[in-house]
Amino acid sequence: MDHNPIRALVHARALLARDAQTRAILRDVRRPEEILTDRDLVHLLDLSRPVAVLLVAVLHFIPDEHDAYAAVRTLVDAMAPGSFLVVSHVEQCPELEAAVRHYKQANAPAVPRSVDEIARFFDDLDLISPGLVNVQRWRPDDQKPCLDGDVPCYGGIGVKR
Ligand SMILES: C[S@@+](CC[C@H](N)C(=O)[O-])C[C@H]1O[C@@H](n2cnc3c(N)ncnc32)[C@H](O)[C@@H]1O
Repeated sequence: MDHNPIRALVHARALLARDAQTRAILRDVRRPEEILTDRDLVHLLDLSRPVAVLLVAVLHFIPDEHDAYAAVRTLVDAMAPGSFLVVSHVEQCPELEAAVRHYKQANAPAVPRSVDEIARFFDDLDLISPGLVNVQRWRPDDQKPCLDGDVPCYGGIGVKR
């Protein structure tokens, strides 16, 4: 889904050429079954053991008509207990309306969601501390926020029971 996905993939594969433990694949999160059955991934990943799925700043590009919740559910269902789901997602707010209008013309329209809607991605998972929070407040004792004040983006990590 990158502006030039093939170029992005070729670049990623060149970077990873010497890394036997990592693969770059070209798949669409709207079709999670294709991710889970991808030959490269199946060879590398043992889904009977805990894994981490990172959907960092991705789901706000999946409109409701493409059912982002069902896509995440399919990935979570495939994960073993003890696995992690990491999500960060732009929050719906008036300040972003102009940006959303702009993105409507892009090949991946942006769909900010409310915090409650973002929380639904973690249904049936246990959120680890500090929960679903503004990303600027993620473990503020551990690291200095990169910006002053909050940004309209929430993030959390859920663990599968
Ligand atoms: C804001 S970037 C975040 C990239 C990276 N996760 C990070 O945090 O630096 C959004 C990414 O979502 C990807 N994306 C958008 N729609 C997608 C889709 N339907 N399936 C897979 N990836 C998608 C884009 O290709 C882009 O790489």
